[in-house]
Amino acid sequence: MHPTPNPDHTHDRRTRTVELNPVFSRPGEDTELPKFSLPDGESLPETAYQIVHDEAMLDGNARLNLATFVGTWMDDQAGRLYAEAADKNMVDKDEYPQTAAIETRCWTMLADLWNAPEPRDAVGTSTVGSSEACMLGGLALKRRWQHARRAAGRSTERPNLVLSSAVQVCWEKFCNYFEVEPRYVPISEEHRVLDGHELDRYVDENTIGVVAIMGVTYTGMYEPVARIAEALDEIEERTGLDVRIHVDGASGAMIAPFVQPELAWDFRIERVASINTSGHKYGLVYPGLGWVVWRDREALPEDLVFRVSYLGGDMPTFALNFSRPGAQVLLQYYLFLRLGEEGFTRVQRTSHDVATYLAGQIGEIPAFELWNDGTDIPVFAWRLREGHTENWDLHHLSDRLRARGWLVPAYPMPADLTEITVQRVVVRNGFSRNLAEAFLQDLRHEVAYLDALTGPMPSTGDGAAFHH
Ligand SMILES: Cc1ncc(COP(=O)(O)O)c(C=O)c1O
Repeated sequence: MHPTPNPDHTHDRRTRTVELNPVFSRPGEDTELPKFSLPDGESLPETAYQIVHDEAMLDGNARLNLATFVGTWMDDQAGRLYAEAADKNMVDKDEYPQTAAIETRCWTMLADLWNAPEPRDAVGTSTVGSSEACMLGGLALKRRWQHARRAAGRSTERPNLVLSSAVQVCWEKFCNYFEVEPRYVPISEEHRVLDGHELDRYVDENTIGVVAIMGVTYTGMYEPVARIAEALDEIEERTGLDVRIHVDGASGAMIAPFVQPELAWDFRIERVASINTSGHKYGLVYPGLGWVVWRDREALPEDLVFRVSYLGGDMPTFALNFSRPGAQVLLQYYLFLRLGEEGFTRVQRTSHDVATYLAGQIGEIPAFELWNDGTDIPVFAWRLREGHTENWDLHHLSDRLRARGWLVPAYPMPADLTEITVQRVVVRNGFSRNLAEAFLQDLRHEVAYLDALTGPMPSTGDGAAFHH
């Protein structure tokens, strides 16, 4: 990999130091601090604070960030709890038994929300985010498959995992790091998500599982878990292969239970072995929290579980990291208590209403064609209508919107559809109807500006800079 060169790394002295605003420098203090080596001496806390504060100010405005799925707003009580709990290490279960107990309550609540047959028989854990949660889900599938293969005296040399070509990069990492062959089912104009079509071409005796995504990162669309399960039922009938599903509900597992409660995508479907979500996405917590829950103990092989000392007894743990923040777990519990089912429904439906309204309005702009309409998770994407213009593309529009503070990425679709570029909006709690109106106004203004051009805009490069 060739990392993007850092403009800070030049030989110019001014780019290698941070200068103090004279208002904040105190007598005797350095007025210039190095950026890439430890300063020789100390600074006053106020001075150091001011420098970091001022640099961080240059980041985009989180509330106008329509690119991220991750929480950018919590209320004052959450802010207070966060500050009070910032010192808690989640792994110190013996030292912070209450935080450990609250973690268990949280994932048990999720098991219940996701219709586990017996939530108290489910197993779960918090994680740093969905990426870690997906790795754990994948590892459990792999180990379960290995046990079954060994018991049958068969080879465990070549495990594979079947997934959509539009999976989030964490699944590519899982396959790479844990040596599992990824079998990507390409999405197409006709099959915009993994929907069970021709699944039998990908599944074989070495398949450890199938990933179904509730809320595809590129577009926000749900993959029909029930249809995927039916296709696997047919495969089992014909071949005897019992292939389980992991649902990557990074976003959707905290939307579907409240917005589409009648939709069966979760443990109501027997083939679903495990589900992950990001507490820091539609779980409404600040960055640093994921969850994964297994239907029952059979779905999580015992030999993956480590035991740590806990209140004189032992506590099962399954995680990639050792130390990690405990505060986010308390924030999740705070929100579960604060909002309950009614509150979560109200919050998620509001985002949903804003997304479908915004998609409807954007769909009416002649320059665009909607890829989807925000009716799954409150996320949607659009593309430039074919033949609309040769003078500009969605990357230019993205740049123009950025100049107004809005962060709305444009990016190519995954393999087999890479010639299609889309732009995506993620509606989150805090993106109100008023903000949506302001965004629409700016969007229409910028489209009118670009449409009025009499010649083409300069090329913006390959547009591959946005990372999901
Ligand atoms: C479907 C899906 N899975 C996994 C992830 C990774 O989640 P996290 O950022 O919580 O690690 C994302 C992130 O956008 C996602 O959309």
